[in-house]
Amino acid sequence: MLPLAWISAFLLFVPAVLSAAGNPGAGKALFEGKSGCLNCHSLEGRGGSLGPELDKIGLLRTQESLRLALVNPSAEVYKEFLTVVAVTKRGQKVEGVALNEDDLSIQIRDVQGDPRSFLKDDLRSVQRENRSLMPSFAAKLSAAEIDDLVAYLHRLRGPAPAVGPRTRKPHNAYSNIEHLDRIGRDAEERPDTLVSSLQIPAGAAVAEIGSGTGYFTWRLARAAGPSGKVYAVDIAQDRLDRTAATVKKHQYGNVQTVLGAESDPRLPEGALDLVLIAHAYHEFSNPEAMLAAVRKSLKPDGRLVVVEYAPGFPFGEFDRTPRMSVDQIRGEIEPAGFEIDRVLEIVRLHNTLVFTKAGN
Ligand code: HEC
Repeated sequence: MLPLAWISAFLLFVPAVLSAAGNPGAGKALFEGKSGCLNCHSLEGRGGSLGPELDKIGLLRTQESLRLALVNPSAEVYKEFLTVVAVTKRGQKVEGVALNEDDLSIQIRDVQGDPRSFLKDDLRSVQRENRSLMPSFAAKLSAAEIDDLVAYLHRLRGPAPAVGPRTRKPHNAYSNIEHLDRIGRDAEERPDTLVSSLQIPAGAAVAEIGSGTGYFTWRLARAAGPSGKVYAVDIAQDRLDRTAATVKKHQYGNVQTVLGAESDPRLPEGALDLVLIAHAYHEFSNPEAMLAAVRKSLKPDGRLVVVEYAPGFPFGEFDRTPRMSVDQIRGEIEPAGFEIDRVLEIVRLHNTLVFTKAGN
């Protein structure tokens, strides 16, 4: 008998294989044609605005999640798209999504896509319902058509961002080390969710550049497991000592600390499944050399994950940590021989981007 883990791994694998068989060209025709997706969604500036804009949806969702959006839209609905049902005192019922609401009035985009405004005094009730306004396409389209749509949506990644000049200066690294272990950081950053959504297989070889106090390091060690290995790189020995102490506290034995140089993380070549650079990229004084070295250290199918604090989320008024937008990060990493694979939306505080090696 097969062990249970194998069976479920096999079951999980099947939909991925089927969806890969979808035809994106046919999906595009369905999207623009008979499915009527553009009635509610915009793409490249065209279409309706009841639902979210889909220009970069392929970066934001996995194929499984895109499929779910089509066959069971109510399974995952973001707060701003909950269905609002307003009933006027005269008994007229209007369904839509809320555009704006204050004490006296509410603006709704109705299912036809038209904005409507109501004074609350004129309404008998306003309710938010935990369901999507999007109809399920499970019965309207064949399984093959759903595959085609998923294949098409998965390729929607937006235009490659322009490569700008480097807009930030290397920060005074680790000026506030205690901040890295601040109380409440887990709730703000959800590090366990971040690491688990990277789906690092047991036995993986992983590196973290800028390991600091080991905040992510021990979690990577947990994910890679005893048969895997984590290289924790930092340019300061006292940080590596902190990393080692944190890893020891959590009782992992699969971490090797590496004293890196400003332009060289000193990693083995062609050996790594994943490199994580969390809150450290903006501090690199020679990012080009570092990225070239990271690229060399990765296996052909290896991934680079960059986490940076997002613009608009300072830690109090004295915080001077440079912030990088998704496009700024892409604009620096992609020219160094990488391709964007995913943008993970874990917390709004972070921009978390997953890259693969380009030209494999
Ligand atoms: C009647 C309007 C309507 C139509 C038609 C419609 N959608 Fe939607 N769609 C929505 C709304 C509203 C949401 C946001 C709520 C939700 O997540 O279900 C949404 C959500 C989505 C999402 C999830 C977005 C995210 O951020 O996760 C995807 C993907 C999507 N739609 C694709 C499609 C495709 C493809 C079609 C055509 C086959 C389509 N929609 C047709 C209204 C519509």
